Amino acid sequence: MNNNIIEVKNLNTYFNDKQILKNINLTFEEKSITALIGPSGCGKSTFLRTLNSMNNLTKTFKMTGEITIEDEKLDETTDEVELRKKVGMVFQKANPFPKSIYENVAYGLRIHGIKDEDQIHKTVIKCLKDVALYDEVKDDLQKSAYKLSGGQQQRLCIARSIAVSPKIILMDEPCSALDPISTLKIEDLIYELKKDYTIIIVTHNMQQATRVSENTVFFLNGEVIETGPTNEMFLHPKEQETENYITGKFG
Ligand SMILES: Nc1ncnc2c1ncn2[C@@H]1O[C@H](COP(=O)(O)OP(=O)(O)OP(=O)(O)O)[C@@H](O)[C@H]1O
Ligand SMILES: [Mg+2]
Repeated sequence: MNNNIIEVKNLNTYFNDKQILKNINLTFEEKSITALIGPSGCGKSTFLRTLNSMNNLTKTFKMTGEITIEDEKLDETTDEVELRKKVGMVFQKANPFPKSIYENVAYGLRIHGIKDEDQIHKTVIKCLKDVALYDEVKDDLQKSAYKLSGGQQQRLCIARSIAVSPKIILMDEPCSALDPISTLKIEDLIYELKKDYTIIIVTHNMQQATRVSENTVFFLNGEVIETGPTNEMFLHPKEQETENYITGKFG
């Protein structure tokens, strides 16, 4: 049985005719965690952003090939607001809105037309608990999100992304601006989230890839060089380039 929630076939992407991603073929299983690794500029963020049509916000972007999410092909008829509800994203730098902690999490529910304040309240509390932030902020829900530390802001952004019940969460270096303790908290959280969501995480931290992910994809110069179970790839990489990268020999 095929339980792939994402299928990518023959994907090529371009900015201004410069080709970035080259013939990418990948599948992602439902409720799995996949790490995307590779040197700076190899196309990890570009790949992540094709999965929720974020690149379409860039006028010079073009793509060929097929992306299928939950059996629906992305094309010009795709409703991008609905797509981004299904495919949430967390960025490198926490980007809370200039609103209260509470309203940051409630925001997505409100823009999707939910008006029942009881339902909103319950969801906000549940999401804050799910990201293990509730105990730290329960007396300050009306305070500005900007008052939180970087690690708390990142957990808030994850709470905001799960509030609208996505199927997939894309994370682009979500810990790179955080100290080691906040990083471990987010890693624990990512592991917990896997029960309910499919997660794809870009990371430059090889320990993080081995700690949180089941599968790893290694990108180099816009191509997928190797993909497979994380443990196998890190213990016995099949390609010399993969070995060079994960052992830090990369020039
Ligand atoms: N909006 C854009 N317009 C033009 N070129 C872009 C744009 N975004 C990315 N690129 C180019 O695409 C290539 C891949 O960039 P991308 O951001 O996907 O790399 P990355 O693997 O995420 O790197 P890093 O690890 O540094 O974040 C780079 O050459 C970059 O300059
Ligand atoms: Mg990037």
